[in-house]
Amino acid sequence: VTVDAFIAGLPKCELHLHIEGTLEPGLKFALAQRNGIELPYADEAALRAAYDFHDLPGFLSVYYEGMSVLRTEQDFYDLAAAYAAKAHSQNVRYAEIFFDPQAHTARGVAFDTVIRGLTRALDDAERETDFKGRLVMCFLRDFQAEFAMATLVQALAYKEWIIGVGLDSDEAGNPPVKFREVFARARAEGFRLTMHCDVDQKNSTEHIRQVVEEIGVDRIDHGVNALEDPSLIERIRARGLGLTVCPISNAHVTDGMKAAEIRALLDQDVKVTVNSDDPAYFLGYVAENLAALREPAALSDADLVRLQRNAIEISWAAPAVREEFL
Ligand code: HPA
Ligand code: ZN
Repeated sequence: VTVDAFIAGLPKCELHLHIEGTLEPGLKFALAQRNGIELPYADEAALRAAYDFHDLPGFLSVYYEGMSVLRTEQDFYDLAAAYAAKAHSQNVRYAEIFFDPQAHTARGVAFDTVIRGLTRALDDAERETDFKGRLVMCFLRDFQAEFAMATLVQALAYKEWIIGVGLDSDEAGNPPVKFREVFARARAEGFRLTMHCDVDQKNSTEHIRQVVEEIGVDRIDHGVNALEDPSLIERIRARGLGLTVCPISNAHVTDGMKAAEIRALLDQDVKVTVNSDDPAYFLGYVAENLAALREPAALSDADLVRLQRNAIEISWAAPAVREEFL
C-alpha cells in the first residue's frame, strides 16, 4: 500500500501494539548473533518465508519463537528504541505499548531485565523526540491464572512504569472470566484494564459480554464481533468503551481486514481506533494500516482524523498529553 501525504502527516495515536511484534527480521538476526543463538533459518529471506499465517495459533507460534533472541536489558532497549524511531517517523505522537513479561520470565529472563530495557528506551525517545510511549502489561491467557497473579504481584514494584494491564495470546478455551481475580486485583492496584477479544473466535460475543459485564474493562482489543449483538454494541457505545482494531493483522489471521465492520462501528458512533498489532510480522505499521483501510472502509480525511481523536480520547494518557494532542 502507498501512504499518501495526508495519512503520513496526520498526528497519530496507537493503542494496540505488541512490542515483541515489532521485532523486525534484521534486528532478530543481529540479536541472535550478539547472543550466540542459532536461528533455524539461513537468512532473513528464509525467515520471512515462514511468516505465512492463517490463524491466531499459527501466528503465535512464530511470534513466541522469535522472542528467543531477546535476552539482555540492551536487547529490550534496542527493540523498543527501534519501534519508537519507526513510530516517530510515521508521526505517531503517543502509543500505549503491550509487553508480554511471561513470555520472557517463563524462559528465564528476569522481569526486571525486560521492563528496564523497554522503559529506558521509551524515556530516551521521549526526551529526544515528540513521541511518547507508555507500557501496558499483558498476561498470557493460555497460562494459568496463578501465573498471571504472580506476575501482577511482581509488577507492583514497577507500578509507575505500567499504566494498565491486558490479556492476549490464544483465546480458544481461555475466556476472560478465567482471569476474574487477577483483573479485580489489578483494578484495585490502580491499573487500567483491557483484554483481547480476538476476531471470529469461538464464543466471541460471549467473551465480549464477559469483558464488558463481568470484568469491567476500560476498553477492548479487537472486539469487532460485538456487532453481531445489537444490545452488546449499544452497551459498548453507551459506556464509551473503545475498540482497538487491527485491519492488516485481521487480514492475516481471519478472513479479511474487517473494513465493513470498521465502517459500521464509525457510523454507529463506537469509539473505534486503527492499530498495527504486530507490525514486523503482519508487514504494516499504523500508517500502512490506515492506508490499506482507506478505500475498503470509505474513510474520508475527516474519518481519519476522527480515528485519531477516538484513540486519544479512549487512551489512558495524562491530561497534559491529551491536550497537546487534541
Ligand atoms: N491476539 C492475541 N495474542 C496476541 C496478539 C493478538 O492480536 N498479538 C500478539 N499476541
Ligand atoms: Zn493484539
